[in-house]
Amino acid sequence: MTGPDKQRRKVQRGEEAGVMDRQNFLCWRVALLLLLMPCGLQCMSVHILNEQPVHVIPGSSLVLKARIEHGPLEEVSMVTWEREPETGLAPTRVTLASCPGKGFKCAGTRPNVHVNMQQQETTLEINGYSRADGGVYTVTVTDHKGAKTPAQCIVREYEEVHHVSVSINVSHSSLVCGEAWGTDPRFSWLHERVAITKTIGTISKDGTTLFVTMTPICGHFTCMVSNKLGHSSATYTAAPCETEGRGTTAAVACFILLLLFGGMLAFLLWWKRRHNYRRERLHEPLDASI
Ligand SMILES: *[C@@H]1O[C@H](CO)[C@@H](O)[C@H](O)[C@H]1NC(C)=O
Repeated sequence: MTGPDKQRRKVQRGEEAGVMDRQNFLCWRVALLLLLMPCGLQCMSVHILNEQPVHVIPGSSLVLKARIEHGPLEEVSMVTWEREPETGLAPTRVTLASCPGKGFKCAGTRPNVHVNMQQQETTLEINGYSRADGGVYTVTVTDHKGAKTPAQCIVREYEEVHHVSVSINVSHSSLVCGEAWGTDPRFSWLHERVAITKTIGTISKDGTTLFVTMTPICGHFTCMVSNKLGHSSATYTAAPCETEGRGTTAAVACFILLLLFGGMLAFLLWWKRRHNYRRERLHEPLDASI
């Protein structure tokens, strides 16, 4: 192979590499574009903004908000809100409200249901919530082609705390606070009506368990469970504490000492008076004779 040939080859190879680089570059750009536009042109999405499950205090208002997002070529042609029971063999869906057309004139099917539709947000409001309003709520967005995109959310009644109980786990020196009912329970512990200190025990992160460090376990342990609607408590009663016993013994001893002291004082007074009286009697005849 002559010198110029070699050089031509090198140049050719160089051009090939350049083409490959450009192709790679294009690939990357397309990939990047796809990444930046994850939904492309067709992507209707709807999600409910409330934290789930939604708990509602009876008599108050239930407000659900949903956010709608869609691609530049899509249009929302209808929004509906429906509800069905959370359990049951054949749950039936009822329509609560629908917002059809371009102007989204929403209409509720009941007097206490109000729906609002804005550019990218729809709000459902039910006033005077009752237990029957609980269930699975579905908001469905229909696009201009008739494709439906739903989002769901569970709604339950906010229940007050009741049926609190405390049980002891002897093998692990712990007290467990169980509560059968109640929404969002917050736990706190008391020993002899005073907040728990390190010398008595430590409380688990969720608050339901008290690991007792004091030995022996004694006195009254109270678990208090509370939420927005009030609180309920239960008490575990262990053997009476030693210090309590010592305290009463000391009090009794004090009382006896006081009695003894009082008795002695009374005796001394009595004795002194009798002595004086005798002396007076002894002096009397003398006085008379003078
Ligand atoms: C006591 O607590 C331990 C640790 O949490 C647990 O494994 C055990 O089952 C408990 N015992 C009883 C009787 O509840």
